[in-house]
Amino acid sequence: MTDAFSYNPLARDGEARLGEVITPRGVVRTPAFMPVGTAATVKGMYPSQVRELGADIVLGNTYHLMLRPTAERIAELGGLHAFMRWPHPILTDSGGFQVMSLASLRKLNEKGVTFRSHIDGAYHEMTPERSVEIQGLLGSDIQMQLDECVKLPATAEEVARALRLSLRWAERSKRAFEAQPPGRALFGIVQGGDVPQLREESARGLVDIGFPGYSIGGLAVGEPQAVMLGMIEVVNAILPQDKPRYLMGVGTPDDIVEAVGRGVDMFDCVMPTRAGRHAQAFTRFGRINLKNARHADDPRPLDEESDCPAARDYSRAYLHHLIRCDEMLGSMLLTWVNLAYYQSLMQGIRHAIAQGRFDAFKAEVKEGWAKGDI
Ligand code: GUN
Repeated sequence: MTDAFSYNPLARDGEARLGEVITPRGVVRTPAFMPVGTAATVKGMYPSQVRELGADIVLGNTYHLMLRPTAERIAELGGLHAFMRWPHPILTDSGGFQVMSLASLRKLNEKGVTFRSHIDGAYHEMTPERSVEIQGLLGSDIQMQLDECVKLPATAEEVARALRLSLRWAERSKRAFEAQPPGRALFGIVQGGDVPQLREESARGLVDIGFPGYSIGGLAVGEPQAVMLGMIEVVNAILPQDKPRYLMGVGTPDDIVEAVGRGVDMFDCVMPTRAGRHAQAFTRFGRINLKNARHADDPRPLDEESDCPAARDYSRAYLHHLIRCDEMLGSMLLTWVNLAYYQSLMQGIRHAIAQGRFDAFKAEVKEGWAKGDI
């Protein structure tokens, strides 16, 4: 294994890309889905289970970990990989997005953002430099610049102000990141809301600064899917072909196949894990709500042909019972089912691109998901 970070393109089918993101801690096969491990855990899953499902990388959150147990404590304990017993690659978000959605009394200026913790109300300051320092203390393999993501709808003036601030923060983040050991990567984050010209300005500005990979932020924040896909097309026409592209916080299986078809390589989303804690099962037949009383006498598993024991070996009646009783095993089994589905979706996507039949695969996935709850 080299000590360098790189992206290795392997095949193309239209705009869809098969590749590998190479890090000293391991290879991430792309298109990739990263299970969300906000608080140093993919909720309800053992790290070994996450790995066995085929995940090459998980996501951690600067905002949560800086508040509890703190980045300094994790560093003293040997870094985030050792702490959570996940020796494979980890990507961390910078905290900007979570400050905006979770913290109170936020004050944003050129220097950074001050806020009060959602846990104990304590004041904290986050700057581009501090975010990179925290991600360095965690030992994150792929780090994100601090950015400002505006909720949509927003005026073009507001979107322009936020993207230009994010560009200045991108430069400061890159400078701060130079202090870190080789092999790690810092990604710039494209903002620009739903305004094509502003998306172009953001993408061009980041490419001028130069990053080993690019994230597309500020999407799936209330806009219709067609708007999101339009913005991805605008941005990916500018981002370099030889660097990975990560669409932040997306999405449904339908969103993922559409974005892959427009050249996106990496995804993360709370959907499979959160839905698993809310009685929803994602299967290749569609979405199943196990709260529904019609499952109470159903001896069939969710999918008898699945490789995932949770989908194959437990009856729908039993899963329904666990959920009715609010038993933690219900959430654990459904999280397992859903992450297995997402990883098999990504495996299917990679296989289809390699075989030059991505469009047919995409159509199958979309058809399955158009049915709604089954
Ligand atoms: N997660 C989902 N969207 C975003 C975004 O725009 N910025 C950051 N930092 N994280 C995100």
